[in-house]
Order: sequence, then C-alpha cells, then structure tokens
Amino acid sequence: MHAEHREQWGTRAGFLMAAIGSAIGLGNIWRFPYIAYENGGGAFLVPYLAALLTAGIPLLIMEYSLGHKYRGTPPTAFLRLSKPAQVIGWWQVLICFVIAAYYAVIIAWSVMYTGYSFTEAWGDDPETFLFSDVLNAADAPTMDTSFVGTILLPLIAVWLITLGVLAAGVRKGIERANKIFIPLLLMMFVALVIRAITLPGAADGLNAFFQPDWSAITDGSVWVAAYGQIFFSLSIGFGIMITYSSYLRRRSDLSGSAMVAGFANSSFELLAGIGVFATIGFMAANAGIPVGELATSGIGLAFVAFPQIISNMPAGELFGVLFFASLTIAGLTSMISIVQVIVGSVADRTGLRRIPAVLIVGGFTALVSILLFPTTGGLYLLDVVDHFINQYGIVVAALVSVIVVAWVLRQLKPLEQHANATSAIRLGLLWRITLGVITPLVLGWMMWDSLQTELSENYGDYEGSFLLGAGWGVALGALVLGVILSIVPWKRGGKTAEEEVQG
Ligand code: ALA
Repeated sequence: MHAEHREQWGTRAGFLMAAIGSAIGLGNIWRFPYIAYENGGGAFLVPYLAALLTAGIPLLIMEYSLGHKYRGTPPTAFLRLSKPAQVIGWWQVLICFVIAAYYAVIIAWSVMYTGYSFTEAWGDDPETFLFSDVLNAADAPTMDTSFVGTILLPLIAVWLITLGVLAAGVRKGIERANKIFIPLLLMMFVALVIRAITLPGAADGLNAFFQPDWSAITDGSVWVAAYGQIFFSLSIGFGIMITYSSYLRRRSDLSGSAMVAGFANSSFELLAGIGVFATIGFMAANAGIPVGELATSGIGLAFVAFPQIISNMPAGELFGVLFFASLTIAGLTSMISIVQVIVGSVADRTGLRRIPAVLIVGGFTALVSILLFPTTGGLYLLDVVDHFINQYGIVVAALVSVIVVAWVLRQLKPLEQHANATSAIRLGLLWRITLGVITPLVLGWMMWDSLQTELSENYGDYEGSFLLGAGWGVALGALVLGVILSIVPWKRGGKTAEEEVQG
C-alpha cells in the first residue's frame, strides 16, 4: 500500500534493544521505588502487575501494530487510519515536545552529578549544594527567567548527543547507540545493586520496601498510581512505540516483542527498587533514622538523599559514579526515542530529509529547553509541567486513542489480524476485551479520580495562576496545537492528506 522507502531496524534484537532503551528511563530508577513504597510497598505489586497485564502490554501491542501496519510516525499512522484521527498523532508529538524539553534537563543534572561524585563535591550539605550552587533556584515558584549558567554546558551536551544520534539514522544512530548503552547500563546497574544489597542495613531497607500494606489495594489512588507508572515507564501513550515500530520489517513479531519489552522494563524497575531501598536501608541504619524519612522521589531522592548516602559509604565515589552514570544512560536512551517522535513526525508529513529535520525540529526543541529550564524558576516549572503533561497529556491521549481505535473506528479486529499474521503469540478475544473494555474503564475512572483531587487542592501547593499557566496551559495547549497542526495542509512528497487516507 505505502511503498515508499523507509528506514528500517537492522535486526529484531536491535529493535528490541531500542524499545527497551526507550522504556527504561528516569521513570524506572527515580520514580518507581518511591511510588511503590508510598502506595502499599509489597502490596503495590498487585495493582502494578494488573496494570501491566490489563493496560500496559495490550496497549503496547496496539501501538506496535498501528505503527507497523500504517508504517508511519503518529500523525501519519493515525491519518492513514482515518483523517480526523490525525489530531491524536499531533497531540502525541506535542506531548513529546514538552517532555523532551524538561527530560533533557534532568539528564543534564545526572551528568553533572556523575562528575561531582568523583570528589563528592556536594560536601556536608547536599541539599544546599543542589538548590543554591547547582540550581540557584528561587525560593518560591516564579516565572523568573534569569539564567543559571552551571547547567548550560551539560544541557547543550545532552542535546548534541541526542541530535547527533538521531542524525545518524534509525539503524546507524538509534539502534547502534542502544546496542552500546543498554548492555553498559545493565552491567553498571547490576554491579550497583550487588554493592547495595551487601551494605549493612540493606535488609531493613528491603523490608520497608516490600512490607505489604494490604489495605492500600482498596484505595483507588493506589491503582491510579500503578497505571500512571506503567504508562510513563513503558513509554506508551506518547507515540514512541508507534514511531519505533514503523521502522520494523514487514515480517516482524509484534506481540512477542511487546511481551519481551514489557517484562524487561518491569524487571529492571524491580531491580531499581531493590537497589534504591537497600541503599536507603544502609543510610537509615547508619544515621539511626527510619527508612521512611529518607524515602523521597525524584529530585530529593537522586540529588539529595543519594549524595548524602554516597558520602557515608566506603568507596562512595565509585558507587556515585555508577548511580549517576546509570541515570544518565537510562535517560539518554529514552530521550532519543522521545525526540525521534517529533523529528520523525515532521519528516513524515513534510517530506523533509532526516538531517534537515533533525537540525530544524530537534534544534527548535533544544532551544526551547535551553531557554526555559536552566533558570531560577526552572525547577518549579519542571515539576508542574511534568505532573500535568503526564496526568492530562499522556494518560488522556492514551484513553482517547484506545476509544477511537476500539470503538469509533472499530479497528481492534483488523489490528489483531495484522499482528497475528506475523507474530508468535496469537491475540484473540482476550486482547480485544482487555483493550476495548478494561483499559478504557480503568483509565476513565482514573482520570475522574485524579481530576477531583486536582480541582480540590492545588498541586504541590503552588499558586493557582502558576498552575493555570504552566500546568493546565501546557497540557491543554498541546491538544489545541495538535488540532491546529492537523488542519495544516501538509504536503508530503506531493501527497495531500486525502491521498494518504486513500493509500
Ligand atoms: N519510559 C521512560 C521512562 O521511564 C520515559 O523514563
């Protein structure tokens, strides 16, 4: 049907490595351990596994099948499915644009901390070091855009590496980078976890982590957290897997690959939980404080608690380098996939060649990232944008895409047939029911639940006006701009939207 020349992965292993590289990211190392701990510890594994099986893997298979069948990045794949559905594709591109802009910043911090680890540059007070010396953060949320120079160079480096890999192409760039980075990440991370579980006090940390609080599984918000975690962590709902599978060969195992990627990602996540909590257990035993006091998420965990722990550990420098280098690599392989959605989508719709697309589109995204985030108000902006684009970008886009594909366009059966024609594991009624019924019900309910919390209390106690601009504004802006971009009469190698739909 669509016979044009398209870049392809070299091997199935190469594709899998890239898909796993995209999935394993900051979400696994710094988000999962804390989310699991906060939401019932060992008992969280029940909703977490349910989320993986009832939404994660079925949706992953749907995204693989969409990208593979329609051989396009999200706007093109959805357009070929049905013209109005193109909006979903552009919406996902804009979500990726927003995420890429701040994801790069966190990787840049990790790069800096890899360096700081050699000398434990944070001294006795990692918290003051982070907020004053590194971030120079304003005391309160502000739209202040005074520039903070420290992070500029690492941030530019992160963008140069990302765009450099993308410019080299799918096989020679993305596939090759992942084939180097993923084994390296695994080796470093396994070494780190072995060191962590042999530290004195590690068992206390693991007990705290796995101690099941069974009452948590009757709490709706725990389920919401589990589904949210699976979406972000598996990279679903933002078009990445549609993009990556569009470069697969005709005869490719879709459902088998989705299973491998899904379980690899969750295994790594569990490993990260074990590593992080064993380390926290060491610190708690050392300082004679409860594990709970040290267990925080995101910035607090990686850039405050860990430096503290590293300073207290024999040969902590090495541990620090392993931890921050792992965070950097895990982040980079996800970052590459996020930016490829943006670059690839514009290239698909405009007919731009790879290098000009990387320079123009990737360069523009980098510029926005570099101008907005290394500022005194950047930390707050990052926090709010991250929360809103995840809750009301990724998850809503996933919900809408499932409803449109399953119910409006009734495409589950054809997609199932498409996947079955080349896959090892055959899909059937169970897949259609999970995706068509369970996933939308759970996601719909989840949305309802989190909207109620959102409207009843200000997220993170930020000012309403800040949340309106940086939170709701950005999340809704992505949708509105998505609609606008879908109306633009793109010409692709002379093909208009109408011709695309006809094939
Ligand atoms: N899936 C990526 C992560 O976990 C985005 O960070």
